[in-house]
Amino acid sequence: MTRVRARAPGRVNLIGDHTDYTGGLVLPMAIQQATTVEGRLGGDRVVLRSDRDEEAVVPLDVAEPATIEPRWARHVAGVVAALRPRSGLVGDVRTTLPLGAGLASSTALEVAVALALGVTGAGRSALELALVLQRAEQAASGVPCGVMDQLASLAGIAGHALLIDCSSLAVVPVAVPDDVEVAVVNSGQRRELATTAYAIRRQECEAAAALVGPLRNAALADVDGIAEPVLRRRARHVVTENARVLAFVAAIATGDVAAAGALMTASHVSLRDDFEVSTPRLDALVERLSATPGVLGARVTGAGFGGCVVFLCRPGTPVAGRRVRPAAGATVDRG
Ligand code: GLA
Repeated sequence: MTRVRARAPGRVNLIGDHTDYTGGLVLPMAIQQATTVEGRLGGDRVVLRSDRDEEAVVPLDVAEPATIEPRWARHVAGVVAALRPRSGLVGDVRTTLPLGAGLASSTALEVAVALALGVTGAGRSALELALVLQRAEQAASGVPCGVMDQLASLAGIAGHALLIDCSSLAVVPVAVPDDVEVAVVNSGQRRELATTAYAIRRQECEAAAALVGPLRNAALADVDGIAEPVLRRRARHVVTENARVLAFVAAIATGDVAAAGALMTASHVSLRDDFEVSTPRLDALVERLSATPGVLGARVTGAGFGGCVVFLCRPGTPVAGRRVRPAAGATVDRG
């Protein structure tokens, strides 16, 4: 039986949150923390042992991924249901990612399972696989997520973040300068309410777009004309966040890392006040980091409601936080 080992990184999003599912702009980077699936192909089930939980046992004809136990096995089942591989797999899963902390641990698992099952053949591009795995994640978790995490994990480039245009799905590598460090702090806050709240935010963006057209093309003046205050704030976040992503890319291209940091902090304020996906604990972390000499900017990263804060600092700044480096995307070895 063929041996296989697939490794898929998590990601940290530098700027551009809650924009992907509106066709907006995001700037994630794959990170060195990753999930590995290692085992032998064969059989009619995917059986994965984990050192964190009970094993996942998923038949190849699994029908309803969202009902599988233990819960982490739903992500395995989502991939199996989306890809219908011909062969099963028996092996182990290990991860160096914190789970459920806004660094795309579930996506890393899904990407690693998909690559291990050998579904990259038949000319499937990273983009096509990302779109299939976006549906797998939606089926597994019930969260109507965008495609940022899957693309970041599959298409990551060492030393670079990825500017993704979620309308065209064009991906442009953006070099991360050497004179800054990127770091994360885990708030330790669990994201129980995230599933419903995320879905509501997405619906609110759709309702705003029904009034002013695609938010990607909307101007602030259009948004100011939305009478309903919640929809107005949600749309204002998306429109200003898209502009901040472009301004951030321009700032780091010219070496203005102070401006880039300020844009991250402005992004946090927008996610806190207009999009309302922050929490008092995340706000306190961002405030403390922003007031630390050498820290250029800080913000919640990913879906919010808990999870991690990402910050940018001058190299060697004595501030606690796990340093993350822009890493290459997922890989698979066989034989
Ligand atoms: C989660 C989703 C992504 C994206 C972020 C918020 O990570 O999986 O698609 O919407 O939240 O930017």
